[in-house]
Amino acid sequence: MKKIAIIYGSDSGNTETVAHAISKEFSGMDLHLANIADVSDVQLLEDGDFLILGTPTWGYGDLQEDWERFMPKLKKANLKGKTVALFGLGDSGAYPDTFVDAMAELYEVVIQGGARVIGQVPVDHYDFDDSRAVLDGNFVGLALDEDNESDLTDQRISEWVAKLKPLI
Ligand SMILES: Cc1cc2nc3c(=O)[nH]c(=O)nc-3n(C[C@H](O)[C@H](O)[C@H](O)COP(=O)(O)O)c2cc1C
Repeated sequence: MKKIAIIYGSDSGNTETVAHAISKEFSGMDLHLANIADVSDVQLLEDGDFLILGTPTWGYGDLQEDWERFMPKLKKANLKGKTVALFGLGDSGAYPDTFVDAMAELYEVVIQGGARVIGQVPVDHYDFDDSRAVLDGNFVGLALDEDNESDLTDQRISEWVAKLKPLI
């Protein structure tokens, strides 16, 4: 059975709640759920076949601080042969110019590490002005906005996971 690792950072709990909701969609599978604040080395990532990495955006377009601390290690991880999907939380109302920017930082590093990234999401149904996490009209992963659109989160997650499952 493929090993799945869901790893998230979270300051005020939203990304943690979402990570748990995503993990429920993979129940019955070989799944490891971890807060990056509790991850000390890259073993957990290198052991997984399919990695789901989540971060909120803080500051002005910044990566969450526990992910930021882990970055030097993530940059050295060998992710060749891994499939990675990303999810990012942000506030498109208060931060329309840096909406879910932090996902871009994870994206760039996992691509450099040799991973294949799946789970891109069209920007069509989001209301924001700019985001570094958009490539060719798609977010590099699942964008979620608990501050303004929490009513859409459950459906966004289940549609996203349904698209991921055949690809892993
Ligand atoms: C001080 C502050 C700065 C923020 N900066 C951004 C930002 O630049 N871009 C964005 O999309 N969201 C931003 N947000 C919104 C958070 O990413 C959002 O509330 C998220 O759900 C928090 O996730 P967490 O509870 O897992 O930490 C910011 C929120 C605060 C309070």
